Amino acid sequence: MDQNKLIVSNWKMNLNLSDSKKLINKLIKSTFKKKPYLKNIICPQFLLIPSISNLIKDSHLLLGAQNCHFERKGAFTGESSIELLKQFNCKYVILGHSERRLYSADSNLLVKKKIKIAISEEIKPIVCIGEPLEFRKNKSYLKFLEQQLNECVPECSEIIIAYEPIWSIGTGLVPDYEEIYEVQNYVKSFLKNNKFIKKISVLYGGSVSSNNIAHIIKKSKVDGALIGGSSLDDKEILKIISIL
Ligand code: 13P
Repeated sequence: MDQNKLIVSNWKMNLNLSDSKKLINKLIKSTFKKKPYLKNIICPQFLLIPSISNLIKDSHLLLGAQNCHFERKGAFTGESSIELLKQFNCKYVILGHSERRLYSADSNLLVKKKIKIAISEEIKPIVCIGEPLEFRKNKSYLKFLEQQLNECVPECSEIIIAYEPIWSIGTGLVPDYEEIYEVQNYVKSFLKNNKFIKKISVLYGGSVSSNNIAHIIKKSKVDGALIGGSSLDDKEILKIISIL
């Protein structure tokens, strides 16, 4: 593997303090630090961020968050600010995940505001896009994705897009490699119209496992993977990393 690859663990609302520490310690001890082309990013629940930030500070692991607020600070009860994420050394933030769009009403407009504030603090946004099943079935998925890109992505010099078809998340269903290739290619050519963007990375997410990672990365030509369920199991995530 000669090009930089991003492996992003999205732990979602899983793992308690002791289980997360055990998993991190196993990742720190693993041999993949010898793979300099691999960026391994861990995105835990907010409350785990301080202790994980401390645990990984001299390691090859990088820290990300699963969300941020679109304002710098203020009267937003229950929210967490980008400034705090930066203080705890978060380098990345997942934005626009379909679960946040569904359960927390994150709209494209809101996602755009969040991307802007993350970039202003030099935290790299990982922006999720992905179609529901009916759009895949009636072949209008590219139009759906284009609208998400159009409405979410601001003027910026670098962007990471994670293509996560909603019907693939947690279901064991994975698009054909040609289908993932088609979308990554489409995203890159569409975003080339944004004259500010110098660097575009496209990740794939949705039921990634050690059984499909090699094919996804090699055949679909994506720049990495956003991994949910498989990132919670030490053996499985270490196997995924060992394959790359
Ligand atoms: P799964 O890997 O569990 O399908 O989840 C994908 C995802 O939503 C990552 O953000």
